[in-house]
Parts: sequence; C-alpha cells; structure tokens
Amino acid sequence: MSTPESATPARTPPEPDLRFNIGDAADSLERMRELYARFGDIYRVYSPARHRYAYVINHPDDVKRVLVTNHANYHKGFGLDRVKMLLGNGLVTSDGEFWRSQRLMMQPMFHRRVIAQFGAMIDAANDRLMARWDQLAGGDEAVNVTDEMSELTLEVILRSIFGDDLDRLTRELGGNPFELITREPTRDLTFAYRFRQLRKLVSELAARRRSEPGEHFDFIGMLVSTRDRNTGAPMGERELVDEVMTLIIAGHETAAATLNAAWYLLSQHPEVEQRLHAEIDAVTDAGLLSLNAAESLPYTRSILVETLRLYPPVWLYSRRTLGPDVLAGYHTPAGVDVLLSSYLLHRHPQFWSDPEAFRPDRPEAQLEAKRPRFAYVPFSAGPRHCIGETMAMYEMTLHLYRFARRYRLCYPPRQPMELEALINLRTRHPLMMRLQRR
Ligand code: HEM
Repeated sequence: MSTPESATPARTPPEPDLRFNIGDAADSLERMRELYARFGDIYRVYSPARHRYAYVINHPDDVKRVLVTNHANYHKGFGLDRVKMLLGNGLVTSDGEFWRSQRLMMQPMFHRRVIAQFGAMIDAANDRLMARWDQLAGGDEAVNVTDEMSELTLEVILRSIFGDDLDRLTRELGGNPFELITREPTRDLTFAYRFRQLRKLVSELAARRRSEPGEHFDFIGMLVSTRDRNTGAPMGERELVDEVMTLIIAGHETAAATLNAAWYLLSQHPEVEQRLHAEIDAVTDAGLLSLNAAESLPYTRSILVETLRLYPPVWLYSRRTLGPDVLAGYHTPAGVDVLLSSYLLHRHPQFWSDPEAFRPDRPEAQLEAKRPRFAYVPFSAGPRHCIGETMAMYEMTLHLYRFARRYRLCYPPRQPMELEALINLRTRHPLMMRLQRR
C-alpha cells in the first residue's frame, strides 16, 4: 500500500474488460470475489447504469481512509434512491450538515444507560418466543428459524420504538400493522408503497407522545423530546417519521440475519456449541442478564463477533467521492463510486488465518491488537458507524444466552447455507431446523 504522498496521481487501477453494474447486479458478490482474486486490493469497474466508475477497495488502510481519516470527502453512494423511497431522509440515507445534526440529536438515545433499560423488554420478547418453541420441541416438525429470528427482532425494535403502544395498536387494528415487514421479504416497489402507508400511524403515535411527555420510555418518546443543541428546536414531524422508519428497517433485518447465521454455524460446529453451553450454564443467577453481564460472557460474544465476520449483514458499503482522493496509490477522481465489501475484507487472507473457518477463539477475533482495526468492520467505523451496535450486541447475546440454555437447533450437517447478497446479506431460503430440548 502506498501512502497518498507517494502516489503517482495519473495512474489508474486495473480494470476488467467487462462493464457491469457492480453492487446492483444480483451476482455482485460472486463477481467481486472473482475480481478480487484477479486484481487484489484495488480495481475499478465501469457501471453503464450509473455512467461512472466504481473503485473497489479491500485493504484496511484504504478502508480507514474512506470511513475515518478522509470521511469528509465521501458521501453515501449509489443504491440510496431505492432505500430513500423506503426510509426517506433518515440517518442511514442522509448526508452533510443535516445528517450531522440528526445524529447529534439521536446519539444520546443509544447511550448504554438507555440500552441497558431495554433488557427486560427484550427478555419478555424472548419469553414469548420460548413459550411457542416449548410446544414444538421434540416434535417432528422443523422450525423456520429464519422467520422466527425475523419476528423476534422485529418485535424488539418495534417495542423499543413504540413501547406499550404496540399492544394498544395491535388490539385496535386487530393485528400488528408492521407485520408486513416479516411477511413480505422482497424489498420492491410494492413493499415500499405499503411500508410508506405506515407513516401516518407513526405520526399519530408521535402526537400521542407529545401529549404525554415523560410518561413512556421508548425511542419515539425520546425523538419527540430531543432538541437541537444549537437552536433548541425539536425534530420536525417529517424528519421524525423518517428516523422511525429507518430504525425499524436498520434495526430489524441486520440482527435477524446475524442470529439466523449464528444458529446455522452453531449447528455445524458441535465443539463451539459445547463451549457456549459451558459458559452460559455456569451463570447461576437465573434473573435478567444485565448489559454489563452480557458483555462479560466472552465466548458467547466471540461467537457473535465471528458470525459477523463471516456473514456481515451489511456486506457492501458504497460511497461517492466529493473531491479527488488517492486510494492504494491510485488517483481517485471526484464523483466516482467507492465500494468496499466487509464480506471480502473479513476474509482477507493477509489478515485472517484460515479465513473461511468459523473459529470464535481465533486470536485475531479475540485480541483486537492482533489485527488491523479496519480489517473487521461489521458495524462500519468512523462518524457513520452503526448507532445501534450496543443494542444489537445486547439483544443478540440475550437471545443466544436464553435459547442455547434451553435448546439445541439441528441442521443436516454439510448442507451449506445458500446466500443472497442484495441490500443485505441473508439466506436465500429459510433455514428449517429441528428443535431439541437440552
Ligand atoms: C447485527 C446488527 C447490526 C449490524 C451488523 C449493523 C450494521 C450497520 C452498518 C455496517 C452501518 C453503516 C452502513 C454504512 O456506513 O454504509 C449501520 C448504520 C446504522 N445502523 Fe446498524 N447494524 C445493526 C443493528 C442496528 C440496530 C439494532 C439499529 C437501531 C436500533 C441500527 C441502526 C443503524 C442506523 C440508524 C445507522 C445509520 C447511522 C448513521 O449513518 O449515522 N443498526 N449499521
């Protein structure tokens, strides 16, 4: 890797003699894997649909430059038009000064002190799932783990946003109006249209919170009470609804995909499962696992860390250069796309030994000092890193802790999980697993 100073600005990175819409094409991950094998840590591909080049990077130093040290030179890249239709201008899709002020207003909502208080709510959602699974355990029917994880994480994010109003709404409307998110996995225009119909409900719920300030502990209440640090103004109505829609999608699918992959990996690695059982069975206090206690289960945590390494749900980050930059020693003009795939970075052979293997006790995963910080970015890094990381890790640890204490999930060995890499990385087909009481 050359430093920006040693670059020869006129040099352009290698490129294949084919043009395609990298990142949009359904087989982008496979093609990127091939192109990485041919060209290494940087190459560029012309996208006919976007009429511009995408520079694809895969070295931790360049990842650091784009996400952290020179982040001000980058805005969110392509693909956002589709996502914007769904989410509006929330934290995931916004940029510049607007993004900064929204992020500042929302950052305190994700403080550990707040997230710690969601523990009982997450536990209760797990209780309800467990009551259902207890009926199924030992039977012949397989459990659709993909759907179950999707429902669980949807419930958690909805309750963290709407609190008890979720039950009221479900009663009044004769069903949970947000269920379409799990029922309709395809994120197409029809879904976007139906999802947008829910905006009115969110506005009504926000209005309720405005009339009952301080009586509820949930994100929508916090969004209603937050104030701009400089102007003291509350968040606008439309902006607030955009942020709620964003939290629902960003907080739900990612955690669901990770838990799904974790159960798959555990079923294929009995030795890892045994060590997990040993760690969680040794906890004698049967009460709620606090945030601190959850973070003190090192092996359980490293299972999630390693799952996120192999199957990062946000598998592709896209950015666009505002001004020129130098990446891997190559001139990178203004107005081009820069792509990085955490999926490929997390399997970079220079930084990960036996990169395809699931090894929660791998030294690089355990000891952050043993790997370059930017070879592992499942939650991104720098100012745009995931605001929900602490919540996600707590939610996922609590689930594994509760459920692995009680059940084993079995999946035919050596039947590999097939992946689908679209906006998020997920399983192409639902995982049907047999449930056993331990
Ligand atoms: C395993 C679970 C999760 C993973 C792997 C994950 C991953 C990520 C990544 C990689 C980004 C940055 C994307 C980019 O820069 O292009 C991101 C951003 C974001 N995530 Fe998460 N996320 C998870 C859970 C959550 C949860 C639970 C919430 C909310 C409750 C959440 C809310 C957000 C938001 C609002 C952003 C945009 C932040 C910004 O740009 O300021 N995420 N997430």
